[in-house]
Amino acid sequence: MSPIKIGLLGLGTVGGGTATVLKRNADEITRRAGRGIIVDYAATLEPERASELGMSDLRVTADAFDVVNDPDISIVVELIGGYSLAKELVLQAIENGKHVVTANKALIALHGNEIFAKAQEGGVIVAFEAAVAGGIPIIKALREGLAANNIEWLAGIINGTGNFILTEMRDKGRAFDEVLAEAQALGYAEADPTFDVEGIDAAHKLSILSSIAFGIPLQFEKTYTEGISKISRDDVIYASELGYHIKHLGIARRTKAGIEQRVHPTMIPKKRLIANVNGVMNAVLVNGDAVGHTLYYGAGAGDEPTASAVVADIIDVVRVLTTDPENRVPHLAFQADLLADIPILPIEAIESAYYLRMCAENHAGVLAEVTRILGESNISIEAFIQKEPENNHAEQVDIILLTHKVNEGDMNIAIQQIEALDVICGEVMRIRVESLD
Ligand code: HSE
Repeated sequence: MSPIKIGLLGLGTVGGGTATVLKRNADEITRRAGRGIIVDYAATLEPERASELGMSDLRVTADAFDVVNDPDISIVVELIGGYSLAKELVLQAIENGKHVVTANKALIALHGNEIFAKAQEGGVIVAFEAAVAGGIPIIKALREGLAANNIEWLAGIINGTGNFILTEMRDKGRAFDEVLAEAQALGYAEADPTFDVEGIDAAHKLSILSSIAFGIPLQFEKTYTEGISKISRDDVIYASELGYHIKHLGIARRTKAGIEQRVHPTMIPKKRLIANVNGVMNAVLVNGDAVGHTLYYGAGAGDEPTASAVVADIIDVVRVLTTDPENRVPHLAFQADLLADIPILPIEAIESAYYLRMCAENHAGVLAEVTRILGESNISIEAFIQKEPENNHAEQVDIILLTHKVNEGDMNIAIQQIEALDVICGEVMRIRVESLD
């Protein structure tokens, strides 16, 4: 059978990795796919990239629509990122009857419902394994490997940059900004790194996972999103003293009232495997009713790890090119006409345990005032630390409390009342605590 010709949109970090892996592993890939896969055409604003990648014969263009509209190209691989141009290109490729592979989590999270509907109409595949957790095949695991299960919850470290920052702060005492600059230099961070540190990138990925896990439409806009920029080195140290690591987690949980879909810094007991996933590595822990816990771990960013997922999708598409569209695995794991209308819960409706850190005046009776407020809100305390001031005459001390599970709305009211006390200086720092058992 003649080789299949693919077009790459973008020859940057992931595009370059994809071209390299396809070339290096061509023989094995052909044995897997049943026919050769050739990168025939690429769109890039840096034409010298083709020869840098050892592909001087590659046709290149600065206009990505040239690739999308080329009749020889059967699969368009979108690796330029961003929302608007990428959306236009993908929709045009679908219109032209081409299959699409993309690593673009923002595109899928925001426009996936529309894109998948168009793809289904056109009988083509839009594959997006590389959009979540880099090289970890988590989409395939959820969509196919765990298809027997009612997924109850999942929790993931799904932003490599954020995990790298938290790990370096904890292990080496490095400053936030310095580690972020290194993550940018290593090619881990998004073009706008606030997407990493403020949790937007993780929220894109979580909304995709949640949709596939529970069979609901993509609802990125309803994801509660909180970043890691307020986490101080003190919080990292206090969490450790209490037996926890702080991780930037995406959590999706099915409850009787609806679905929790939230990204925020989270304290996890150190003894959990996922609490020990460090650096740029990602991990997703899934709890299914039949299988129990399964944990997926691997590189969450970088050229070849992400290319591993992109190329796997290309191979998958090649394998099913001749199957009837209705016999393919549905884009969002569940049949498109059977997606459920389950509400995504507001953050105030969730239940969580909490770590609270507050700066308080250093004199008798202060703690009693704080515990009175918590007691009146039925919030019970599991652990408590009061840091000795370095200087015995210091006027302010840190108080750290760990609470049992409580409704977030009730906790918000208690925090407001604590912050209003004259003896408390500034805002109360709050980190949600998850046991993940
Ligand atoms: N900026 C992303 C991360 C890249 O750090 O995880 C991979 O999606």
